[in-house]
Amino acid sequence: MRKKIALIGGGNIGGVLAEQAAYRELGDVVMFDVVEGLPQGKALDMAEGAPLVGADSKISGANDYEAIAGSDVVIITAGLARKPGMSRDDLLKTNLSIMKQVAEGVRDNAPDAFVIVISNPLDAMVYTFKEVSGFPKNRVVGMAGILDSTRLRSFIAWELDVSVKDVTALVLGGHGDTMVPLVRYCTVAGVPIGQLISAERIDELVERTKGAGGEVVALLKTGSAFVSPALSALEMAEAYLRDKKRVFACACLCEGEYGVDGLYVGVPCVMGAGGVERILEVELSSDERKLFDASLDHVKELVSQIKI
Ligand code: NAD
Ligand code: LAC
Repeated sequence: MRKKIALIGGGNIGGVLAEQAAYRELGDVVMFDVVEGLPQGKALDMAEGAPLVGADSKISGANDYEAIAGSDVVIITAGLARKPGMSRDDLLKTNLSIMKQVAEGVRDNAPDAFVIVISNPLDAMVYTFKEVSGFPKNRVVGMAGILDSTRLRSFIAWELDVSVKDVTALVLGGHGDTMVPLVRYCTVAGVPIGQLISAERIDELVERTKGAGGEVVALLKTGSAFVSPALSALEMAEAYLRDKKRVFACACLCEGEYGVDGLYVGVPCVMGAGGVERILEVELSSDERKLFDASLDHVKELVSQIKI
């Protein structure tokens, strides 16, 4: 019996999610969107291409929440994306009302699902989903740090002309300009990058990571990044579906960890069949702690604007 993956939002990221989840046979895929015909049309096109990749997953589109019944995983991209000149925070008001609707739809139709939220502003949106749905914290997680860490991995690999496979990086905190790339924990095959790249250049790579989302938005002009975010969320979904015990930076509900109580913020976690199975508390230097606290303050300010 194949697993079932529901995608709430059939736009740029939702389309890549559907294609990759189905063609990798992670499970049967149902794409939900409020635009009539959009999820159905995209799904039909992908389904007709399946023989070329030899995938037997079912792919369907729907405008009714009943179609997501029994989903094992729900990935949420419903909402507006940034345009040039916009911050992720500018999306709060519109996406907040969307997320409340989505949370009720998922709560009422897929009550046992593992939920990955992507919609921005991420830390506030995943918090909203948790509050409205009432799902346990291990089954509600935000996709952000894994993307930010992946971007830094790419920048480090390009800088040193080494395989991306051999680069590790860790970015914690809120998913925004205050994110905290932990340079001390970035390595190439276990070698700290401080032994391979100058401090000045590392600072430049860190700044590029913080602005990486905006860099793509400025180039695209019509929206934001969608392939790397989709691939990041699929790593998380696969870790859950295949109980892989992967370690990623994700927006997790901290209840005491890192001195945080009752907020979603990017921290390293172990992801497997239990969803967010545990949060890993890594040591932070005093400077890193200051940056983390500043990022947390920004998340707190965003969440303070949410009235459930
Ligand atoms: P998009 O505009 O291409 O797709 C969004 C889809 O949501 C649209 O198809 C729209 O019809 C749909 N939608 C709107 N209201 C809905 C509702 N009430 N129920 C269901 N669907 C609804 O945008 P995108 O590029 O796919 O980005 C989606 C979201 O992800 C944006 O908020 C963007 O900022 C965010 N994002 C987050 C990250 C991250 O790292 N967390 C990365 C990239 C983008
Ligand atoms: C963006 C994503 C990366 O808005 O959060 O660009």
